[in-house]
Amino acid sequence: MKPLIAPSVLASDFANLQSEVEMLNKSQADWLHIDIMDGRFVPNISFGFPVMEAIRRYAQKPMDVHLMIVEPEQYIEQFRAAGADTITVHFESTTHLHRTLQQIKATGAKAGIALNPHTSVHLLEDVIVDADMVLLMSVNPGFGGQKFIENTYRKIESLKNLIISRNSKALIEIDGGVNQDNAPLLLEKGADVLVAGSFVFSSADPLQTIADLKSSSN
Ligand code: DX5
Ligand code: ZN
Repeated sequence: MKPLIAPSVLASDFANLQSEVEMLNKSQADWLHIDIMDGRFVPNISFGFPVMEAIRRYAQKPMDVHLMIVEPEQYIEQFRAAGADTITVHFESTTHLHRTLQQIKATGAKAGIALNPHTSVHLLEDVIVDADMVLLMSVNPGFGGQKFIENTYRKIESLKNLIISRNSKALIEIDGGVNQDNAPLLLEKGADVLVAGSFVFSSADPLQTIADLKSSSN
């Protein structure tokens, strides 16, 4: 199975957002990955609703929204209204995760759970059947362009086992430091969706880089 590719708009040229989104429309990207940072859950601030809505006006692909914010339950409906197709909240950021997942699904969006590098996948045992996706952070969230954390491979294996044992349909998404070198092993371990920011947007030919990631195989 080919992986789904979700280029992270965070690494794009914000002064030329329209042409960046049009490039992604033409590319083999499956989703647009949208990183929302609040300066509290993570030590960085990215962008919010007006920028997301501007992206939505041009995007012809689903928006995969990754909320790196405290108390995401306060903003779920607004993110859906701004065009989110999938809404992923951090396990570490919301006290009543089960309720938050139901809240996301009630808007009609798919519901994802993100885990920081230090958070064990075993903590998802009792909620994995309620998730449409689990996003494993393979860097500490907050910034693009960081180095991939190797322990991620082991986490994918444990997560895959958990998903199978609980009969869950959750997809596994990997976010942070993904490139052509680590993609094959990520897929071999069981990743379904690859997020890539700087690897795509810093490359000489982003269209080709996305095509190469799409055809990576284990
Ligand atoms: C990091 C974000 C990532 C980031 C990935 O906090 O969640 O989505 O944009 O960027 P790269 O691929 O450059 O690590
Ligand atoms: Zn992200």
